[in-house]
Amino acid sequence: MTTMQRNPGLDDSAFLKAARGEAVPHTPVWFMRQAGRSLPEYLKVREGIGMLESCMNADLITEITLQPVRRYGVDAAIFFSDIVLPLKAVGVDLEIKPGVGPVVAEPVRTLEDVQRIPDLTPEHVPYITQAVGNLVAELGATPLIGFAGAPFTVASYLVEGGPSKEHAKTKAMMFGAPEVWEALMRKIAGIATAYLEVQVAAGASAVQLFDSWAGALTPADYTEHVMPHSTRVLEAAGTLGVPRIHFGVGTSNLLTLMGEAGADVVGVDWRTPLADGIARVGDRGVQGNLDPTLVFAPTDVMLARAGEIIEAGRAAKGHIFNLGHGVIPTTDPDQLKRLTEFVQAYPLA
Ligand code: CP3
Repeated sequence: MTTMQRNPGLDDSAFLKAARGEAVPHTPVWFMRQAGRSLPEYLKVREGIGMLESCMNADLITEITLQPVRRYGVDAAIFFSDIVLPLKAVGVDLEIKPGVGPVVAEPVRTLEDVQRIPDLTPEHVPYITQAVGNLVAELGATPLIGFAGAPFTVASYLVEGGPSKEHAKTKAMMFGAPEVWEALMRKIAGIATAYLEVQVAAGASAVQLFDSWAGALTPADYTEHVMPHSTRVLEAAGTLGVPRIHFGVGTSNLLTLMGEAGADVVGVDWRTPLADGIARVGDRGVQGNLDPTLVFAPTDVMLARAGEIIEAGRAAKGHIFNLGHGVIPTTDPDQLKRLTEFVQAYPLA
């Protein structure tokens, strides 16, 4: 790998320091889904353009990724894309339906279905390389987080054919057709790894692996059927020399395992008190975990809760402030602006 020319100040950013477990000038803050429907400027540039179409256009990716950085002054940008974009890029027939989520035309059920999915190469995603390059140039000392969907969560969309509460078909394959499951998980892990490699090679400073729906699993099933595949992705990402964040929802009883899978920082959703999360991840950082609905509370109530989370975060090896899941589309951006300013001004000394 060639040595990247790093922007001055980047390595000293509060976000990267916290991710490495070093002392920080202030608690760094960014928001999952900070780019998106809660921003009027997002709705404007997306007018008449489909979600996946915008994820395949380097200029739109660049603009949408920068919007929340301009508006809030957050400590990190997250690359604008989607966990299913790499599947679309290799030719899987899928779309993202507004208000629904990813929908796959021909759900994966057999070994042949898995084998038909090509592996991802950088040639599949030239717009990603281009957009990351543009962004790193624009962002200066603000780190860019690259991301991918973890094998279980992406498998759920592929097997169910769309969003699912129970993940019943996915788990039926996991329990009933181990050879198909193994092949599918290996396929997705390879695609996720290649997707992260493209982003880091182009200049992303950190990566987040989203296993949003892993909370549907017992620790034993996670350990046996899922963790080895997420571990493969995180270990490969580790060789790229950037911090790795690993996040899921409803994962209270999986946090230790999600850390052991190879994360430097474990994302904690809002249902788990941050102190409990810190105890479970041991010698790693944590990210989180304000309930995303608290932005609808009076500002003083929201900020009081944020203060409690920052205080709890002091016990962690490193704490990156975030919501406990993504920004809700009806969120008032002014509340996120106040929250950002509050976190960044909160005295740690
Ligand atoms: O965080 C960011 O600002 C970066 C952008 C981002 C998107 N999707 C953009 C998006 C990220 C990190 C994701 C990841 C993602 N996508 C996850 C993991 C994170 C999580 O929320 O748990 C998952 C499970 C998906 C799958 C997916 N894509 C869902 C559930 C949806 C929402 C469906 C809806 O319309 O309510 C999408 C679509 C999507 N991805 C939107 C955005 C901004 C909304 C589409 C639009 O604006 O038209």
